[in-house]
Amino acid sequence: MDSTSCKIMNTIDEEVMTGEAKWQKDAADQNFDYMFKLLIIGNSSVGKTSFLFRYADDSFTSAFVSTVGIDFKVKTVFRHDKRVKLQIWDTAGQERYRTITTAYYRGAMGFILMYDITNEESFNSVQDWVTQIKTYSWDNAQVILVGNKCDMEEERVVSAERGRQLADQLGVEFYETSAKENINVKAVFERLVDIICDKMSESLDSEPAMLAGGARGQRLTEQPQGSNNPNCNC
Ligand code: GTP
Ligand code: MG
Repeated sequence: MDSTSCKIMNTIDEEVMTGEAKWQKDAADQNFDYMFKLLIIGNSSVGKTSFLFRYADDSFTSAFVSTVGIDFKVKTVFRHDKRVKLQIWDTAGQERYRTITTAYYRGAMGFILMYDITNEESFNSVQDWVTQIKTYSWDNAQVILVGNKCDMEEERVVSAERGRQLADQLGVEFYETSAKENINVKAVFERLVDIICDKMSESLDSEPAMLAGGARGQRLTEQPQGSNNPNCNC
């Protein structure tokens, strides 16, 4: 962890938990303003687990331990004066777990749909994953397309341009990331939270007071900003 990350980890008020055993504790902790359920999906080995570990623990391992079923971590972040609890589900990419993992799509507000820029097949599978989202999730679920492993430039087989074009076709935002080199990992989560918040404020348009000042599109912050930001409509 570099010093900048270290500072971030120290200043952000966060908690990280894993596993079903912690579920009850998580549900009981009501110390948040909003809870967003997010899922990371995509083919096996694209880097979903690594991406989550980088975000939640700022750690990375080059060993590949394929996820069995599903796991989750909880991380609390601040968007202005609101405490937003992220419940982030890491799904197994292997086909044999599909029945289990799709059962968790219900109620998800956001999806990180990941492929590996060094693996054509994972890119070709993106459309199938979109179909899974459409089948098992709800219409308002927000999606970000992520091309992971962008540190492996020499082994790249999917250009950034193809990724961007596919994202445009699907009507979603696009990032290239590296869980290994910590490139754009935090940015993806921040953007997904912003998009979900924007969607929420759209659905609150019958309450103009909530929308005064137009906080739409503002970024997730590391610290609560309290009265400095009275306009948050997240
Ligand atoms: P399943 O659990 O089987 O669905 O796979 P997964 O998508 O969770 O993949 P995982 O995170 O386990 O990563 C697979 C392999 O890719 C591991 O060996 C990781 O170390 C490696 N990896 C993940 N992200 C990156 C990255 O950004 N760059 C590089 N070079 N390797 C990565
Ligand atoms: Mg995994």
